[in-house]
Amino acid sequence: MRYRITVLPGDGIGPEVTEQAVEVLKTVGSKYGYEFDFNEELIGGCAIDACGDPLPENTLQACKKSDAVLLGAVGGAKWDLLPGDKRPEAGLLRIRAGLGLYANLRPAVIYPALQDASPLKKEVVGTGIDIMVVRELTGGMYFGKKGRFQTEAGEAAFDTETYSTAEVERIARIAFEAAQKRRSKVTSVDKANVLESSRLWREVVQKVAGEYPEVELNHMYVDNAAMQLVRNPAQFDVIVTANMFGDILSDEASMITGSIGMLPSASLGKGTLGLYEPVHGSAPDIAGQDKANPIAAILSAGMLLKYSLGLDAAAKDIENAVEAVLDKGYRTGDIASEGSRIVGTKEMGKLIRDQLAGK
Ligand code: IPM
Ligand code: MG
Repeated sequence: MRYRITVLPGDGIGPEVTEQAVEVLKTVGSKYGYEFDFNEELIGGCAIDACGDPLPENTLQACKKSDAVLLGAVGGAKWDLLPGDKRPEAGLLRIRAGLGLYANLRPAVIYPALQDASPLKKEVVGTGIDIMVVRELTGGMYFGKKGRFQTEAGEAAFDTETYSTAEVERIARIAFEAAQKRRSKVTSVDKANVLESSRLWREVVQKVAGEYPEVELNHMYVDNAAMQLVRNPAQFDVIVTANMFGDILSDEASMITGSIGMLPSASLGKGTLGLYEPVHGSAPDIAGQDKANPIAAILSAGMLLKYSLGLDAAAKDIENAVEAVLDKGYRTGDIASEGSRIVGTKEMGKLIRDQLAGK
């Protein structure tokens, strides 16, 4: 089989980590007999520099023609003072909307070899953390009506949180279906004690739950969820929530695993086309120094194989290779502890490829 992958390296450490992910895909390709055609396009700050637009039209078109998209990271201080719609982040929001990727899956897990990495106490982490955050990605406050206006007291600004029944239904289904393949529990997070959009969210999720009687559903207010994540993270299986709450809670969930440099994500829509990116950002302070952890990008390539191409065995192979390399004690600086064998971005990528190739 031949697959077309658009690679969007982006800014900061994005290019270094995606390079390693692409090399891993090539190794998987030769091992299993798949062919990948990679084409690289611009997004984020580098696209602003090259053509004045964080998401050039030909990037979007190339993505639409692909089987999957692999993204590094966008953003950096250089572009921070640009107006909202001209910033690198606007490119990310537009590509999510442009490709109809309404569901963002962010797994937060503790790897056995990194048991001690969590900043939480051992007794809190308990038997481990294995949470799937399902974040709604193309609605809510990110995409609602926004603007500025003048008042007698000076300038004011607003952003609107809007959700339709259809938007909530489809993300709820993604969450229930994910839970069916996991521990059959969904926690829907909202602010239904205050927000009308959350009250609709809760009603719709409750109704969709009727289609999945074997999945247990509970509702939680977002402030409580933020607290429960650090009080007793093991209670969570799948968390489903709105765009804004999901942005915040997924950072929290990833941090409690102690390994944000390890966590991949998938953004999915109606068809099989998906966008895969590490959860970490562009980390400009370490860019170009061969220090970044490429594992989140490599695991994102694994999610790509699984969710867009249906190559589950190859995806599992990547996960196993990553675990094996960690078990041997190799670490990039961000996840190093006493006695680790510290390696750079390139070396970590090579170790994982060698492991895959059985070298
Ligand atoms: C994320 C990021 C983005 C978001 C930013 C960079 C626009 O924080 O993917 O979580 O808020 O969605
Ligand atoms: Mg975020």
